[in-house]
Amino acid sequence: MTSEIRQLLRSAKVFHPDLPDFDTDAAPDEPMTLFVEWLTAAIDGGVGQPHAMTLSTSDRAGAVTARTLLLKDVDDAFWFATSSLSPKGRQLRENPRVALTLFWREQGRQIRICGEASPGPRDVSTADFTARHPDSRAVAIAMPQSSPVDDPAAADAALDAAKTRIADDDEFAPDDWTAFRVAPMQVEFWQATTGRDQVRLRYDRTDPSSWAKSVLWP
Ligand SMILES: Cc1cc2nc3c(=O)[nH]c(=O)nc-3n(C[C@H](O)[C@H](O)[C@H](O)COP(=O)(O)O)c2cc1C
Repeated sequence: MTSEIRQLLRSAKVFHPDLPDFDTDAAPDEPMTLFVEWLTAAIDGGVGQPHAMTLSTSDRAGAVTARTLLLKDVDDAFWFATSSLSPKGRQLRENPRVALTLFWREQGRQIRICGEASPGPRDVSTADFTARHPDSRAVAIAMPQSSPVDDPAAADAALDAAKTRIADDDEFAPDDWTAFRVAPMQVEFWQATTGRDQVRLRYDRTDPSSWAKSVLWP
């Protein structure tokens, strides 16, 4: 059985042969410009859910967990939004150092980001929340994120009450909904090729406004 699975995995398709080029000599001096270039190419190229990224966090004891979130904005930081009362919200308070990973399979591209997460201004969190679909807002306020549903009837009642609350006040945003910014310390761009010689470029922050670039062996 195990070897059948191994065979299945070995025969799984890898990348489409028509992959974009990545000329590391032409890369900008800082990573945010390149990130936006790659993100734009992913959106223009029809990559599925290009804004889905893995957020990895760890608690005080070093236990790591990861989950998918949506990238909400990029300026000098990478933004996501979630409940500060969720397990990840607790972990972010215990250890703000996080990793973000984006994988755009259609273009054979991966971006790895390490940095420090901090809550953004309240008005950014409120604007993020009120821009969400009313049903998503109701789900977010009905019960704490990731809490066990021990009583489905009570959960349904809480959801109905939350829907009414949202319908009554379109501007309502709960205090725990938080837009977090991840200030990057390291960003790595990885490009698959048709051969086996993937191209990797890493940016390391050397001071608040400058970055060192290194091409990495695949
Ligand atoms: C494609 C996708 C996008 C998601 N986007 C978000 C998001 O933007 N914010 C969020 O809180 N959870 C999002 N989730 C759900 C999270 O993966 C996760 O289940 C939830 O945040 C609870 O995580 P926690 O228990 O580690 O706190 C998304 C899941 C998927 C698959």
